[in-house]
Amino acid sequence: MISQKYKDMLGQKSVIREMSAAGHKMGEEIGFDNVFDYSLGNPSVPAPKKVEDVIKKLLEETEPLSLHGYSEGHGILQVRKKIAAYLAKTYDIPYTYEDVFMASGAAGALAHAFRAVVCPGEEIITFAPFFPEYRPYIETTGAVLKVVPANTETFQINFEAFEQMITEKTAAVLINTPNNPSGIVYSTETIRKLAEVLSKAQETYGHDIYIISDEPYREIVFSGVDAPCVSQFYDNTIMCYSYSKSLSLPGERIGYVAVNPACKDAALIVHMCTQISRGIGHNCPASLLQLTVAELLGETSDLSVYEENANILYEALTKMGFSCVRPGGTFYMFPKSPEEDAKAFCQKALAYNLVLVPGDSFGCPGFFRISYCVPTEKVKRSLAAFEKLAKEYGLC
Ligand SMILES: Cc1ncc(COP(=O)(O)O)c(C=O)c1O
Repeated sequence: MISQKYKDMLGQKSVIREMSAAGHKMGEEIGFDNVFDYSLGNPSVPAPKKVEDVIKKLLEETEPLSLHGYSEGHGILQVRKKIAAYLAKTYDIPYTYEDVFMASGAAGALAHAFRAVVCPGEEIITFAPFFPEYRPYIETTGAVLKVVPANTETFQINFEAFEQMITEKTAAVLINTPNNPSGIVYSTETIRKLAEVLSKAQETYGHDIYIISDEPYREIVFSGVDAPCVSQFYDNTIMCYSYSKSLSLPGERIGYVAVNPACKDAALIVHMCTQISRGIGHNCPASLLQLTVAELLGETSDLSVYEENANILYEALTKMGFSCVRPGGTFYMFPKSPEEDAKAFCQKALAYNLVLVPGDSFGCPGFFRISYCVPTEKVKRSLAAFEKLAKEYGLC
């Protein structure tokens, strides 16, 4: 008999994918150049040339059996050592290789973190707006996802609602800063308060509550914005990192889990990740990719285009009458829909060749996401379409 659980998931299609398919269909009809597709979060700048250089060098100089062989369950030791040293130096936290587990992107890292610190039936709290894939990521582990409603004024944490949501079943809190879809970076004040609330809750309930910090956009932070390192504020922090966005390598599936060495049971968690890996059939990202990223620590693609696009869109859209919290990083922004039903709004936008994603599946109805990882020239051309849309709603 086939699995009812996964059969049921067939009916829960991703709205992002649906909007992207609508954009693709439109592109086939009117030409892709004429479609302003702001649906997907695929980086629009290529990986730095150094990625190709390192891969070529590895292929030329490394003995093939070892280069393409299985790596150890935790990941390649040398790679873990280099990543730990990089993190220790960057964040002034004494990470060692024993705190690092290599994973297939942020999704792979999160799959391990959830299973390591949350048992089936326990609760993971996250904050709207949130990446919709968190739902399947978490619900397939048997844990329960609880969502704190958004603070739509700032998209920082809504602490009043959060504190009411913590129970004795709360095992972890999942945060994502810089954030998909709002583009907001949590302030030091927010992270500090989060740490205080959780420390108090740990005392109240007499057990550990972990922060799982999903950080694929860690390096995409705009000028003048302070992006505090979550692990510096709270010992029980498990960082989940990915090279998908910073190095524009989403298809290569490479990232890691980094357990704060001061975390409760830190000595066990990475070893447990290896066992989780056996259970879910993850068994390490490609050795070639592990070795590649280890040579590129601190390198990024040219991320400046995202800030340029953010500035162009933010200035133009707010002038047209859209209301939006200014993004501090990523390649997303999350304006308020001019009509309550953001799905209806995004359908109307299609008539102007604009492909936008309604906020409902991000846990924040009434808003829409713009993924501005597109060429700047296209962003500029799309402004006339946004203006027509704004006029239709009487915004300008
Ligand atoms: C917030 C967030 N977390 C996790 C992921 C998954 O990242 P990866 O492709 O590295 O698995 C994404 C991808 O878009 C994301 O936006």
